[in-house]
Amino acid sequence: MNSVIVSQLSDGIYTITINRPEKLNALNQEVLLSLNQELDHIYTNPEIRAVIITGSGPKAFVAGADISEFNQMNPEQSKQMAKAGQDLFFRIERSPKPIVACVNGFALGGGCELAMSCHFRIATPNAQFAQPEINLGIIPGYGGTQRLVQLIGKGRALELLMTGNLIDANTALQYGLVNHVVEPDELINKATSLLKTIQSKAPIAIAHCITCANAVFDETMHGYEQEVISFGACFDTADRVEGVQAFLEKRKPVFTGK
Ligand code: COA
Repeated sequence: MNSVIVSQLSDGIYTITINRPEKLNALNQEVLLSLNQELDHIYTNPEIRAVIITGSGPKAFVAGADISEFNQMNPEQSKQMAKAGQDLFFRIERSPKPIVACVNGFALGGGCELAMSCHFRIATPNAQFAQPEINLGIIPGYGGTQRLVQLIGKGRALELLMTGNLIDANTALQYGLVNHVVEPDELINKATSLLKTIQSKAPIAIAHCITCANAVFDETMHGYEQEVISFGACFDTADRVEGVQAFLEKRKPVFTGK
């Protein structure tokens, strides 16, 4: 039986491919469980420095939560499902290592939510984004109502949430939902090139960039206070000493993650 997720580590970059192309990579319970295991791996394996998440096949990144599982659920179970999905996507959003979504086709419902939980998104021209849950008489449950507002603003988000309409890659670019649109054969290269640049920086400072950016949207945190804490924490690293010294000596810094 094919694995629902295929992963590969190359030069510090861990690529996770959701692999149910015959179901447009829909997120069933097996995929969600495997993604959680991948997150364990990402958090604990020091060889993983950065992550790419993409979908298998030319048609879809992820076409949503697996709708065929919905009829087996009662309201209480649906709440548990939403909570578990939110927790998983928080782990992606709060990963200290950068995670980029390479969106190669449909990113619908849970697929759009998965992409939005990543630190940024790159898309191919055939990518399409939507939160079409409204067509099923429901709403997004994996953080979509929150992150869509954060990323594209309330008016645009509410239009998409209430109409279920699809937007194409260029509209997503214009809205700020994706950072770049590139041809399919350039997608992984573009992500790799950006992640290589990030990999050349001090890993502790990178992790603090993520923490501070997340703090803007986390009511349990005070963003400016977090920035002061993070700034101090970065100052307390060997990489800060190296970075400053390298600048003064007019050479490239060699960061060690300490
Ligand atoms: N859950 C479960 N199965 C899904 C799925 C989903 N979210 N999205 C697609 N699939 C399955 C289809 O049922 C079909 O399976 P089958 O071949 O066994 O019948 C297969 O993937 C291919 O999809 P199909 O609908 O035939 O492709 P299409 O090109 O005609 O349409 C979409 C593509 C994305 C427009 C259409 O599949 C769709 O609307 N999917 C649901 C999107 C959605 O509402 N997501 C949010 C869920 S909360």
